[in-house]
Amino acid sequence: MSIPFVYGRIAETSNFTDRENETEYLIRNFKNLTNTIIISPRRWGKTSLVRKTSEIIAKREQDIIVCHIDIFNCRTEEQFYNAFASAILKASLSTWKKVVEGAKKYLGRFSPNISFSDTSKTYEISFGVDFKDTTLSFDEILDLPQTIANDLKKQVVVCIDEFQNITDYSDALGFQQKLRSHWQLHKKVCYCLYGSKRHMLLNIFTDYSMPFYKFGDILFLEKIKREDWIAFISKRFQATGKKISQDLCGTIADVMKNHPYYTQQLSQQVWLRTEKECTQEIVNTALHDLIAQLSLLFTNIFDSLTPKQINFLYAIVAGETNFSSKDVLKKYDLGTSANIKNLRSATLEKDLIDIVPGNHIVIQDPVFEHWLKGMSKGK
Ligand SMILES: Nc1ncnc2c1ncn2[C@@H]1O[C@H](COP(=O)(O)OP(=O)(O)OP(=O)(O)O)[C@@H](O)[C@H]1O
Ligand SMILES: [Mg+2]
Repeated sequence: MSIPFVYGRIAETSNFTDRENETEYLIRNFKNLTNTIIISPRRWGKTSLVRKTSEIIAKREQDIIVCHIDIFNCRTEEQFYNAFASAILKASLSTWKKVVEGAKKYLGRFSPNISFSDTSKTYEISFGVDFKDTTLSFDEILDLPQTIANDLKKQVVVCIDEFQNITDYSDALGFQQKLRSHWQLHKKVCYCLYGSKRHMLLNIFTDYSMPFYKFGDILFLEKIKREDWIAFISKRFQATGKKISQDLCGTIADVMKNHPYYTQQLSQQVWLRTEKECTQEIVNTALHDLIAQLSLLFTNIFDSLTPKQINFLYAIVAGETNFSSKDVLKKYDLGTSANIKNLRSATLEKDLIDIVPGNHIVIQDPVFEHWLKGMSKGK
């Protein structure tokens, strides 16, 4: 019997809870050719959601092609163009032979070279021209989705994962201007751009002075709801011949604050420890073991923080909200109230905290939060 609950991989088929509203919303946007930006902290399910949506589209809509590009490993514009061109050709053209022909037809000026890897059964496209040649404009590559849409008489949706990485390129602003000036002219193409660095993405898409200002709808992906987790966890237990009460399903979701990755991970740990019927004790042990398993990682994070940053995190887990008050500053030794801004931005930058509506500060990682609580007690 295969183990239910997955984490660290894209959640698909029976491992994907509905996210019905979000998938329908994306499908609608893709059909209407509305650009969409998806933002959420890490491991909340952006990639899984976009993949799920494109699976549904592939079944339902014959006239829409969805391309996926992950630019996590693209450190330069050149790598971006390579990844962009190959993803679009691969998604649009059905056979290897057609991809080779398409590369020559659409991008002949770049002397495309396509190599096939026998081991991974994938192919990569590279270009014979030097990308540092400033006389080339790369217009054909950026316009490739529209050219293909015209040629095949279809709509093209281009999804780019980890989009914030383009801010690391050497001429980041110039590159954004170039992308925007091409993409805004595309009539049969829309873009779905997403990533986890909220402040970077907000800067790209909501800053008036930036090229991508108001480029599309912004979707702040939320965590999966408690009731959906309860239905999901109990269904997965039932399907594998094990029992769990609704209450305990709720407890799993609660202790993980509905965090998608961790709720799946804890559910799996609980499932593995359950022979026939789950108990509260099993949930407690699984949680305890999970915290212990990750404690080395958390210790390393701690080692990279200043004493005041650590105290700031302790103050958050203790439920403090008024960090500038004299009492809180003194109790947690946070320095002056002017220092709070620095502590906030440093821990935000490290993805340790998140600012949620109402300007509340929360710890991003729920297991880290449990661990921090334990540490603060032992102080
Ligand atoms: N709809 C879903 N149903 C159930 N579990 C989910 C769902 N979406 C995500 N998950 C859980 O969360 C994990 C992370 O999902 P995913 O990789 O899609 O997130 P992400 O936001 O793209 O993360 P990252 O920011 O690291 O790229 C999955 O491995 C799975 O355990
Ligand atoms: Mg992802």
